[in-house]
Amino acid sequence: MLERIQKIAHFLDERKIGNPKVAIVLGSGLGGLTQQIHIQREIAYREIPGYPVSTVQGHGGTWIYGTLNGVEIVVLNGRVHYYEGYDMKEITLPIQVLKEIGIEKIILSNAAGGMNPSFKVGDIMIIKDHINLFGNNPLLGINDDRLGPRFLEMGEAYSSRLRKIAFQTAKTLGIHLQEGVYMGVSGPCYETPAEYRMFHVMGADAVGMSTVPETIVARYRGLEVFALSVITDLGVIGLIEKISHEEVLTAAAAAGPIMETLVCTMLPKI
Ligand code: HPA
Repeated sequence: MLERIQKIAHFLDERKIGNPKVAIVLGSGLGGLTQQIHIQREIAYREIPGYPVSTVQGHGGTWIYGTLNGVEIVVLNGRVHYYEGYDMKEITLPIQVLKEIGIEKIILSNAAGGMNPSFKVGDIMIIKDHINLFGNNPLLGINDDRLGPRFLEMGEAYSSRLRKIAFQTAKTLGIHLQEGVYMGVSGPCYETPAEYRMFHVMGADAVGMSTVPETIVARYRGLEVFALSVITDLGVIGLIEKISHEEVLTAAAAAGPIMETLVCTMLPKI
C-alpha cells in the first residue's frame, strides 16, 4: 500500500507547483470552484499511474495545482465513490497521496440530502461530526504503523478551529450557514422515507454517499479536516420529493457559488 501511495505521490511531486499545504476535494456538481482557481497545472486522473478513476457522470476527474485567493492549493476535482464498486482503501487513496505530498489541511465538499426540518434546498451545512453507516471502514485490516494508529481517536474529527473560522467568515459575508451531523451511506439508492426518518432519529442532519471514509483516513494521517455539504434535496417527512442525480447536480451547481465564496474567503485565514 505505502509503496503504491509513494509511487503516485512521486509522480505528482515531480509535477508539483509550489508547496501547497491545503487541499480541496470537490463533490458532485461543485466543480464551479475551478473557475476561480488560478490553475498552474491540471492532470487528468487517468494520466496518473495507479490512480482511481471515477465512472460517474458529473464527477470530473482532474488533479489541479494552483492558487485560490492567493493561497497555494491542490484541488481534486471529482472523487471515486464506494458505490462504484471500489473498496474503501481505493476511494481513500487520494487522501493518502495528499498527505504524502505534504498537505496538512483538507476541505471536503459534497452534495447531501437534508433531514433537519429547518434545512432548505441550497443551504450549506458545515459538518461538525459524522456517523459512519457505510458498513465498512477504510482502516480495516492489518495496520501499517508508519501511516497511522491502529485505534484512531475520533473525538473531534472535524476541526473546531476551522469551523469557527468558517462561521466568522460567513458572518462577514452575510452567508447563512447550517451546522450538523453528516450520515455517510454507501448508496447508490437514495433513501426511502423510512430511512430518512431513521437517520434523523439517529442524530443525523444530512445524508450522503462520500466524505466519511475520506475524513477517517485524513484523521488517520494527521490532517486537519473541514467539510461542508450543499443540501440538494430534502429527506424531511412531508417535504420529500422524488429526486434524480440530475436534480442533485443542478441544485448543487445553484448553491455552488455561495460555497465557493465561503471557501475562497476563508482560505487565507486557515
Ligand atoms: N441521499 C444520499 N445522498 C445524497 C442525497 C440524498 O438525499 N442528496 C445528495 N446526495
